[in-house]
Amino acid sequence: MVSQQSHRKDEHLSLAEHFHTDDSSKFSGVRLIPTSLPKYGVDDIDISTQLENLNFHVPFYINAITGGSQQSQKINHRLANIAKQTGLAMAVGSQSIAINDPKQRASFTTVREVNPDGLVIANIGANHDATDAQQAVEMLQADMLQVHINSAQELIMPEGDRTFNFIANLKAILAQATVPVIVKEVGFGMSQQTITELANLGVKIIDVSGSGGTNFASIENFRRANKEMAYMQSWGLSTVESLLEADPINLDVNVIASGGVKTPLDIAKCFALGADLVGMSGEVLHLLLSNEDDEAIINQINDWIYGLKTIMVLTNSKNIANLKQTDKIFSSELLNFKQQRNSG
Ligand code: FNR
Repeated sequence: MVSQQSHRKDEHLSLAEHFHTDDSSKFSGVRLIPTSLPKYGVDDIDISTQLENLNFHVPFYINAITGGSQQSQKINHRLANIAKQTGLAMAVGSQSIAINDPKQRASFTTVREVNPDGLVIANIGANHDATDAQQAVEMLQADMLQVHINSAQELIMPEGDRTFNFIANLKAILAQATVPVIVKEVGFGMSQQTITELANLGVKIIDVSGSGGTNFASIENFRRANKEMAYMQSWGLSTVESLLEADPINLDVNVIASGGVKTPLDIAKCFALGADLVGMSGEVLHLLLSNEDDEAIINQINDWIYGLKTIMVLTNSKNIANLKQTDKIFSSELLNFKQQRNSG
């Protein structure tokens, strides 16, 4: 018998793919100013980045996707192999299911078995306590822990939570965690207020995970019997908007950008808007489900690395710190957003 939770994991995978598009328009309101006189060649460019003493050879990574079903075990096995071959860090999907049912652990632990020396990130919801969070880390001998705050998803999910105890749980998780903790959204973005509250709780790494890619309002609405919550599809802040929200906050936090990132140009724009690292889920899942051959995906990721270096050459950015300072301009719509939010 397949449990309701395992079935949900498979539905999330198939619906994420069903709603996937190539649309990068949420990033089109930001443009990078080019140079026609590059000072560096492609081989001079250093794309590595550091977060809490961890070194990321590649500054983008496979963000949380899955685990907890037979299909997800195959996907995690492949993703871990791709991460190993390309040097990308990789997060797993929520390990809640494996904490409740040890039979589901193998769909997560395969990631560590395939990639023993890779940078692996555990994942748990902020509805869990510190003991569960620590179990998630130990299950994978993880290097970092993601804690997701997904209130909009839960409320649209037919069987989701209706009350939230995120703040108390986050405090306890932060107090007991043995690895760096990332607090992340799941595609609805974060406001200045949320980011400030998290920073004041002591969160040091925040993944704003905005809208523009995987849309859990569409996915969970599709799973509702009457599909009556379609109006929530436009809920939240885009990744670009969330980065603009994070920008003026002068607190000691590292910001990860994710949500709708599909190309090296999207990645470069995230850095230009101040991100320290970039995560991709939907696009990586789409690649995986469209190619039976891992080699094709590894080639695609290496093309993305070359593409990012190209953009760094064309903006005279020798490294990620330079790219974060590169000149950009905003569409009038984004400028309007920025002005309204910064004058509040
Ligand atoms: C996700 N995401 C996610 N996040 C999380 O913290 N725990 C989870 O279990 C999941 N599960 C999950 C399943 C599937 C199928 C997808 C595609 C995504 C959310 C993900 O990490 C990310 O925050 C959003 O998907 C936005 O990024 P993309 O997909 O637009 O790149």
